[in-house]
Amino acid sequence: MITEKIQTIHLPKITDPRGSLSFIESQRHIPFNIKRVYYLYDLDTDSERGGHAHTDLEQFIICLSGSFHLLLDDGKDKTELHLNKPWEGIYVPNMIWREMKNFSSGCILLVLASEFYKEQDYIRSYQELLKFTNTKR
Ligand code: TYD
Repeated sequence: MITEKIQTIHLPKITDPRGSLSFIESQRHIPFNIKRVYYLYDLDTDSERGGHAHTDLEQFIICLSGSFHLLLDDGKDKTELHLNKPWEGIYVPNMIWREMKNFSSGCILLVLASEFYKEQDYIRSYQELLKFTNTKR
C-alpha cells in the first residue's frame, strides 16, 4: 500500500498573538538529512509539475501558501492528497511517481530533499518506473 510508504507529518506549530511559526529539524521531524531545499512559486493554476520519480532521493513536500493536489503512485497503488497547511508535510521516499497540479493562486510549495540535484536520479517515464518496480497494471 502506498499509504504505508508515504507519511503525513504534522510539524510543530507555535502560535501567539504575533502569528504562527513552524520548524523542521533533520532526523527529528523528517527521517533524513536535508541536503537541498527548493521551492516552486509563480505557478500557473493550469500547470502540472513533477511527472517523475527518483531512484534514491527522499523528499518532504509542504504547501507553504495556498493549496494544490499531490498525486503519488508507487507503480501498484496511488493516492491523491490536497495540501493546504504550512504545518503539515508529506514524506515521499524514493521510487514514487509524483504529480503536482490544481495550484491555487499564490501557491508556494517547499521541498526538502535528501540529496543534491542530480539528473541521473530522475525516472522521467512511468513505464521505466514500472520496470524498476517490476510491476504490471
Ligand atoms: P523539474 O524537476 O522538472 O521540476 P518539477 O519536478 O517541479 O516539475 O525541474 C525543472 C528544472 O529545474 C530542470 O531544468 C532541472 C532544474 N532543477 C535544478 O537545477 N535544481 C533543482 O534542485 C531542481 C529541483 C530542479
